[in-house]
Amino acid sequence: MSAGKQGDSLCFFINGKKVTEDDADPETMLLSFLRDKLRLTGTKSGCGGGGCGACTVMVSRYQPATKTFTHYSANACLLPLCQLHGAAVTTVEGIGSSKTRIHPVQERIAKAHGSQCGFCTPGMVMSTYALLRNKPQPTMEDITQALAGNLCRCTGYRPIVDGCRTFCQEANCCQANGDGNCCRNGDGNPDTPEEPQLFDKEDFLPLDPTQELIFPPELILMAETANPETLTFYGERTTWVSPTSLEELVQLKAKHPKAPLVMGNTNIGPDIKFKGVLHPLIISPSRVKELFEVSETAQGVWVGAGCSLSELRSLLEKLVPQFPEEKTELFRALNQQLGNLGNQQIRNVATLGGNIVSAYPNSDLNPVLAVGNCKVSVISRGRREVPLNQDFFMGFGKTILNPEEIVVSVFIPFTRKGEFVRAFRQAPRKEASFATVSTGMRVFFSEGSRVVQDVSLYYGGMGPTTVSATKTCAAIIAKPWDDETLSKAYDILLDELALPPSAPGGKVEFRRSLTLSLLFKFHLEVLQKLRETTLFLQNVIKDEVPEKISPLPREIQPGLQEFQAVSKDQSAQDPVGRPIMHRSAVGHATGEAVYCDDIPKTDGELFLGLVTSSRAHAKITAVDVSQALQLPGVVDVITAQDIPGKKFRPMTGQKEELMAETEVSCIGQIICAVVADTRAHAKRGVAAVKISYEDLPDPIFTIEDAIEKSSYYEPRRMIERGNVTEAFEKVDQIYEGEMRIGGQEHFYMEPQSMVVVPVGEEMEFDVYISTQWPSLMQEAVAETLGISSNRVTCHVKRLGGAFGGKVTKTSHLASITSVAALKTNRAVRCVLERGDDMLITGARHPVTARYKVGFMKDGRIVAADMEYYSNAGNTIDESTLVVEKILMHMDNVYNIPNLRGRGAACRTNLPSNTAFRGFGVPQGLMVVENMINDVAVVLGRPADEIREINMYRGPSVTHYKLEFSPDNFLRCWDECKLKCDYSARRKAVDQFNKQSRWKKRGMSIIPIKYGVAFAESFLNQAAALVHIYKDGSVLVTHGGTEMGQGIHTKMQQVASRELRIPTSKIYISETGTNTVPNTCPSAASFGTDANGMAVKNACEILYQRLEPMRKKDPNGSWESWSLIDSEPVSSVLLCVLRGEDLYMDWEKMEGRPGAYFTFGVCCCEVELDCLTGDYRTLRTDIVVDIGRSVNPSVDIGQIEGAFMQGLGLFTLEELKFSPSGLLYTRGPSQYKIPAICDVPLRFNVYLLKDSDNPHAIYSSKGIGEPVVFLGSAAFFAIKDAVAAARSDSGLVGPFTLSSPATPERACLACNSQFTQKIPTSKPGSFKPWALDI
Ligand SMILES: Cc1cc2nc3c(=O)[nH]c(=O)nc-3n(C[C@H](O)[C@H](O)[C@H](O)COP(=O)(O)OP(=O)(O)OC[C@H]3O[C@@H](n4cnc5c(N)ncnc54)[C@H](O)[C@@H]3O)c2cc1C
Ligand code: FES
Ligand code: FES
Repeated sequence: MSAGKQGDSLCFFINGKKVTEDDADPETMLLSFLRDKLRLTGTKSGCGGGGCGACTVMVSRYQPATKTFTHYSANACLLPLCQLHGAAVTTVEGIGSSKTRIHPVQERIAKAHGSQCGFCTPGMVMSTYALLRNKPQPTMEDITQALAGNLCRCTGYRPIVDGCRTFCQEANCCQANGDGNCCRNGDGNPDTPEEPQLFDKEDFLPLDPTQELIFPPELILMAETANPETLTFYGERTTWVSPTSLEELVQLKAKHPKAPLVMGNTNIGPDIKFKGVLHPLIISPSRVKELFEVSETAQGVWVGAGCSLSELRSLLEKLVPQFPEEKTELFRALNQQLGNLGNQQIRNVATLGGNIVSAYPNSDLNPVLAVGNCKVSVISRGRREVPLNQDFFMGFGKTILNPEEIVVSVFIPFTRKGEFVRAFRQAPRKEASFATVSTGMRVFFSEGSRVVQDVSLYYGGMGPTTVSATKTCAAIIAKPWDDETLSKAYDILLDELALPPSAPGGKVEFRRSLTLSLLFKFHLEVLQKLRETTLFLQNVIKDEVPEKISPLPREIQPGLQEFQAVSKDQSAQDPVGRPIMHRSAVGHATGEAVYCDDIPKTDGELFLGLVTSSRAHAKITAVDVSQALQLPGVVDVITAQDIPGKKFRPMTGQKEELMAETEVSCIGQIICAVVADTRAHAKRGVAAVKISYEDLPDPIFTIEDAIEKSSYYEPRRMIERGNVTEAFEKVDQIYEGEMRIGGQEHFYMEPQSMVVVPVGEEMEFDVYISTQWPSLMQEAVAETLGISSNRVTCHVKRLGGAFGGKVTKTSHLASITSVAALKTNRAVRCVLERGDDMLITGARHPVTARYKVGFMKDGRIVAADMEYYSNAGNTIDESTLVVEKILMHMDNVYNIPNLRGRGAACRTNLPSNTAFRGFGVPQGLMVVENMINDVAVVLGRPADEIREINMYRGPSVTHYKLEFSPDNFLRCWDECKLKCDYSARRKAVDQFNKQSRWKKRGMSIIPIKYGVAFAESFLNQAAALVHIYKDGSVLVTHGGTEMGQGIHTKMQQVASRELRIPTSKIYISETGTNTVPNTCPSAASFGTDANGMAVKNACEILYQRLEPMRKKDPNGSWESWSLIDSEPVSSVLLCVLRGEDLYMDWEKMEGRPGAYFTFGVCCCEVELDCLTGDYRTLRTDIVVDIGRSVNPSVDIGQIEGAFMQGLGLFTLEELKFSPSGLLYTRGPSQYKIPAICDVPLRFNVYLLKDSDNPHAIYSSKGIGEPVVFLGSAAFFAIKDAVAAARSDSGLVGPFTLSSPATPERACLACNSQFTQKIPTSKPGSFKPWALDI
């Protein structure tokens, strides 16, 4: 069992082509094989652990027994190559290409504007494609299920859903004009112009299933071979054996009891990848047919342990209608749980046996299987049946089975008359998320009685494994199923399933309360069922009809996207103002768009892995790299001593060390780097570097700690208008509050990536990098290597998302990678794994604010005093600038005459935080909006009224003395209220809440005023270089980077208008420091404003230069005028544009820090399940003033994407740190960004019409960042719903709800009878599992 042995040949097909691999390594996953070996780079790597869907492919297999084919989506990152023998794999390249014909799925997602950065798009395409292969006319439910495991950080999903919706037969219309009547049909009046649309369905290619690739006949023959042989594959460290008979499997397992049985690899795979587990031998039973057999008996059904969870689901769905309802209670409960377990790709490969044996503490299935009296049939030297009960599950990942035992099948019995089974789960995100608490519950009544004969309650998430609430059950048996019995049961359950306050996983109070509230849900459902069942006479149950808690609604309806049509006089050729598709959309959807890590490997290229600190505050006493250097493939270790130039990067006036030499100040700080021939070898090298530390005292983690120890970065800032102290003396009322806003991980889908190539002469380096600021990378590499900038060229083709996270932190990584390239004189690639990226590169700043507000009885706010503290982490980065931006926006749209703000960035021993879309504004504005809500609650008035009373009106002046007009903002406000039918819906919400005890609705309307551009003038300049070639083609280069925001598309539109040629003649290849030097970052919502003007100027001048040619040949064409070598005209122009003079003078507390304001208003309505804290956004309406949009589809995409990112920030995403400062949340399994299940069910966006802006190109406005804050409308709607729940419990008045308003926080804030029962542990009396930073 070692490398060098000759194994069998692995044979499978990819995109219709046969692949024969003679040296298949069991540790290789399909993803790296596709990308590294076959150079099929369309399939992307976003997380490596099955949690993001970027690597989705379709796997097809032939079933010889039934002579049928199965097609299913799967995550290539978890698919072992060796598992694919006999399978046909289809990747995004296999279904369509721009060179031949694109597939309808690719076309529709592209044309519906479903891609921005495009990194998630191939995965979206493949999930949809696999669905359509099985169901060419899916329902919306099918689509949302298929895409539940595909994350997108840019689009907000709505356009992806709309593109896929076109495959459905169901109504596709918004019904805005009444039942079944779409706005697109007009209002019946022939004079009313039709609303312009973002795309036209009529353009789409039809879906023709006969055009798909056929299953390879060779694989059919292979599958039908009568006597298949055992396959063995030998890798560098691991051997893979795939037996074909049960007998052989049993022998193998008996001989190698420690070898895992790899089925779906969804448990084993992540363990190998993330925990570094090494298995010298892997047994793959996937060709042993007994493990896949299904047989029915009179008592139930035996299901092969190797059946995938999707197969189990289809089987149960098929069986349910075949039997009386009473017999299938368990089947239905299992099915419900299966619908929410993991995601489609996971369920398609994860097996029933694997799930049971994995014995996850929060398994979804095990509690239900256990209450249902299921059992497993296991085999080793003999066979036995083992019940799945509390004795079976022994601990985390441990069962009662002996290591050599194999689960062959699982018995799922029918239920009896009078038996009810239910399954419940509550997870941090509704879908594609492990449960916080999962449960199975069963009760049995004898005929005509409500006295409990038998009951079983099992919980997941309440300990190291699935647990039975045996004592609680004993207290219920033989008692009538009524409130009295149940209320005693709650108390017993509370004791029985107690969790210590520092229990792993945290959320202790919430988990404990869920055990009760889920039992209460079961109670209500059983009561309903008892009533409905004819078997139980109505008169047996005399109590009140209990409230029926129906599930939260989930179907995403078509929404409206309204924008202003271009004027009739505009030339048809002129694309400005039209919803032009992203110029790379087809490339995104076909997988042809090239990202940094898709660049082919150069000869001798090395891979760099980073060694980071495991201590938060310590001296480094030794760095031992000897073991690492001995490992295969490891070439060198790079330390600070190898840096020939500057070892520090300057950041806001302070120096940041590139690699720690003597001391570390956070976990995740870079100490050194290992370079090796492959990624895998670099990773092993990193693990082998040994660092010794001596801990230093008193690390600081929380904002409170920092305040106590005065640990701040300077300068701290203060701004004041009026006289706050005096004003407080004259107000009617004063209220003081606090608001905490958690941080947010950027979670760009493409991790930090770069390749540094030494050119080979005169110290020249080419840097291919995913960054928002190429010039900064150039400067950083040059300074680190001690060379001049003219030797370093940075190339940026595109980024797979950035959101502020690919500026400063990327420059550190580029510096380190360039040192490795210099030292080894070889090209070096650095692509961070998701976990390292999250650990090292920082996040959005958490902010805690305290405020004091003075107001009059009539609602006027007269004085407000706010203090903001951000958790900046271990280096300054841009943290003090973030604080400044918070202070500059603290007034939002409110004219508070006496306003004071103070802000400080706290120095802590956590990874350094950095810029993130909105740059502090979302956190800052949250405070003022929360304050206004509090004032409204204190005064007992609706929050929107208090907002209106205090808004700027007429000619206005900000607190930093800038004059502006709020007119367009007020138009947005009025229009939003009108469009969303605010008053009527507000009444309907209140009415709903009166009638519903356990579900509440909430509504909010939230405004924003956002200053666009950098407050420093030098950052607002831009340049563009335009070439006109002799064939008439035009190459545009400018300083902006394309990261999904569509800047290249807009620049193409600008050039097209100015040169009066179609966009097809204009190309943008990359952003390069050798074409446009000294650029500014693509940030601050200012990219189009700055670069657009530069492109415009350059094109205008070039167009003028061609005037003589046009005069000479008035009937000529663009091509003929471009043949300019006959004329003394230059066809190349670099145009540099100086931005507006912007500044902020903190001494005088005045300035003009933005060029203009973008305004917006958002109304959200949510429905909240008060028992679990689960919520759904029912409807969102956003009105935004972005002047005259250059491209409405791109801008609406930015609005929707930003809103969803804000919704994530304020309601979902939580960074969790251990008490020693280690980030726990290092991947999509632990950190939840919004998924498709979070899209508002109705999502309408309106661009304010007839708005002009003299400060930006073609009267447009920047829109990248402002709308992030509008995601807070979901937070305030949840808070509104919570307030309604609290008032039912007699609680009135302001209350604290920190952001994000997760299900945990919302549920606890509702203060139900269940949460009230949970004893709270005194802070300080225990060590919490996670810190509140
Ligand atoms: C992204 C992601 C999300 C997930 N979400 C959820 C969720 O929401 N809820 C939930 O409950 N689970 C969830 N899971 C866990 C998933 O359901 C399990 O990992 C899966 O069911 C295990 O099955 P498998 O076939 O992949 O097992 P493998 O990883 O192949 O094997 C797992 C273990 O089971 C053993 N084993 C497998 N088959 C047998 C057998 N027949 N006899 C004896 N031993 C056997 C193996 O030896 C191994 O130790 C998630 C996993 C991932 C990666
Ligand atoms: S890379 Fe495979 S699921 Fe994320
Ligand atoms: S377009 Fe989906 S992640 Fe960027």
